[in-house]
Amino acid sequence: MSEEKRALSSGTVKWGVMGTAGIASWGTIPGMQKAKGCELYAIAGRSLEKAQAYKERFGFEKAYQGYDALLNDPEVEAVYIPLPNDLHCEWVIKALNAHKHVLCEKPAAMNEGELRRMFAAARENGVILMEAFAYLHSPYISRLKEIISSGEIGKVDYIDTAFLTQDYSDDIRLHKEQGGGGIYDVGCYCTSMILTLIESPVKYIKADAELDSTGVDHMASVLIGFEDGTRASFNAGMILGTDSSDRYDRLFIHGSCGYIRSDAEYNGEGEITFEVTVKGEDGERVTRTERVIAASNYSMEMEQMNRCIIGNEVPHITEEFSVRNMRVLDSILDAVGYNDSKKEFILPNGAVIPAVGYGSYLSTEKGGVQTIIDALDCGYRYIDTASFYGNEEQIGEAIERSGIRREEIFLCSKVWFTDLGREKTLRSFEESCRKLKTEYLDMYLIHWPKSDADDEEWFEKVRQSWEAMEELYEQGRVKVIGLSNFLPHHIRPLLEAARIRPMVDQLELHAGYMQEYALSYLRKEGILPQAWSPLGRAKLLNDEAVSGIAAKYGCTNAALLLRYLNQRGIPVIPKSASKERMKENLDIFGFRISEDDMSYLSCLPEKGWSGEHPDKV
Ligand SMILES: NC(=O)c1ccc[n+]([C@@H]2O[C@H](COP(=O)([O-])OP(=O)(O)OC[C@H]3O[C@@H](n4cnc5c(N)ncnc54)[C@H](OP(=O)(O)O)[C@@H]3O)[C@@H](O)[C@H]2O)c1
Repeated sequence: MSEEKRALSSGTVKWGVMGTAGIASWGTIPGMQKAKGCELYAIAGRSLEKAQAYKERFGFEKAYQGYDALLNDPEVEAVYIPLPNDLHCEWVIKALNAHKHVLCEKPAAMNEGELRRMFAAARENGVILMEAFAYLHSPYISRLKEIISSGEIGKVDYIDTAFLTQDYSDDIRLHKEQGGGGIYDVGCYCTSMILTLIESPVKYIKADAELDSTGVDHMASVLIGFEDGTRASFNAGMILGTDSSDRYDRLFIHGSCGYIRSDAEYNGEGEITFEVTVKGEDGERVTRTERVIAASNYSMEMEQMNRCIIGNEVPHITEEFSVRNMRVLDSILDAVGYNDSKKEFILPNGAVIPAVGYGSYLSTEKGGVQTIIDALDCGYRYIDTASFYGNEEQIGEAIERSGIRREEIFLCSKVWFTDLGREKTLRSFEESCRKLKTEYLDMYLIHWPKSDADDEEWFEKVRQSWEAMEELYEQGRVKVIGLSNFLPHHIRPLLEAARIRPMVDQLELHAGYMQEYALSYLRKEGILPQAWSPLGRAKLLNDEAVSGIAAKYGCTNAALLLRYLNQRGIPVIPKSASKERMKENLDIFGFRISEDDMSYLSCLPEKGWSGEHPDKV
């Protein structure tokens, strides 16, 4: 009898718990014990002794040493995973591939890329994955939503919240490599509260944080703007005295006709009270105290998960919500400098750009199609080309011959300045797709703003091309539309005319030529900068200063220059015709450049400039 049928017939779910973490002992396992339909079947720990202790204490049927043993037990139907953040992705996917339903502690992943892979595995295995925000199951949250949707306090225009805890002398939260820090630990509560109460898409995120010498954040302050004009802010961190067990929680929801004030603790249980103030037409303010009984958030969470497994209920914490929350966390971790290295960049529209792509300009001259096949063999999954490069047919041929699925490859091409204007751009796009043997492009850029220095008509042509690209984007023919070699004075007028904002701007960027004014403008406008000639077209590869620093990290000059840009949050597209150097340019994630060396490389005198400038082509 399949697990499904057994659970369905018995109305209970056999749960396994992976790890003996604190939150499991004081939160989720007691919640399981109180919850209907939960059978505490097995507990696994790195030490059998600790697992045995939990088995005795909580009444599990079995205790295992090691997590694989738990996943290999066919009786286990669902697994609760409270492991350190950096282990979530690996073990959640293992559990899902073992056909176990999974409840994973929050934050469920270290970044959106991981989270997407986890939910994809759940879909592929036909099992449920839910992120364990137990507090969101609380009747306190549903009462807040009820008051807001009743319109009693009018349209919500501002939310402020805070979740501050003790600092720690020795705790997993102090370890960056394990996903430590206040933003992951308590910041994710504040973001999930705000996103539970505001549905509008996020417009911008501004954040700053105090990081310790290991790069772990102890205090963060965040401002979020939403498309519908609502704003939200929060403070989150671990600063209230070392090992003090102190905490500070607050929530303020302001509407056009009133507001809600609450000092209830996140995950608070028992009787919860908060104040609702309503402003009458006469301006008279009437305040009342609301009372809600929250029996056990953890047992409510478990019961809901069981109903999803047995009764096909939709998880209360949906994939869409978890991805939305993780995207906000990612942006905050980027903004405060926590994320100092990324293997992929996820845009607000969800498009994923690999951090290292293959630049194909002049790369196929000698090797032709084989060069691109070599790049794909090396593991590149982003190919950067342009109609001007004259190699789109070779790239199309190479992808076809590689047998790699189209959707696994990120293809970027560009419209040349001789093809600006609506009709020409549409024709050029179709021509690029035909040559690349594809129905769509992942990214399409306007290659240069002007045809030459005296091009007075440049903006009108660009505006028309952009309009055509907006249509292609809305038709789903291209996933990301953007610019190349556009400087702030080219972008500003386009932002006024555009319906869809440019998402990327590909510029010449490398140590010795970092165009800092343009970079800070792009950051402010939420446009992702991407680096062409990230090696300065090889001009920086024999630079003494670069060699000196590279030696310190035991890496090549090329790897150092590419890692430098990655740590600046900039995806790169190095070009090499040699397979060996192609591999080298991908191998940039095994070391971290120190703050001082980052500063040194950022302050190098100008060097390696290509001589090409958007206004003087
Ligand atoms: N949007 C634009 O206007 C624009 C402009 C220029 C470039 N791009 C894009 O950016 C890509 C890269 O730019 P780029 O080709 O100008 O310059 P680049 O990637 O900075 O440098 C390429 C040069 O570096 C050498 N090289 C690459 N990897 C190396 C390594 N590990 N060790 C030693 N030498 C190495 C290459 O020689 P080998 O081939 O012999 O290895 C080549 O001579 C282009 O292919 C194109 O896709 C865009």
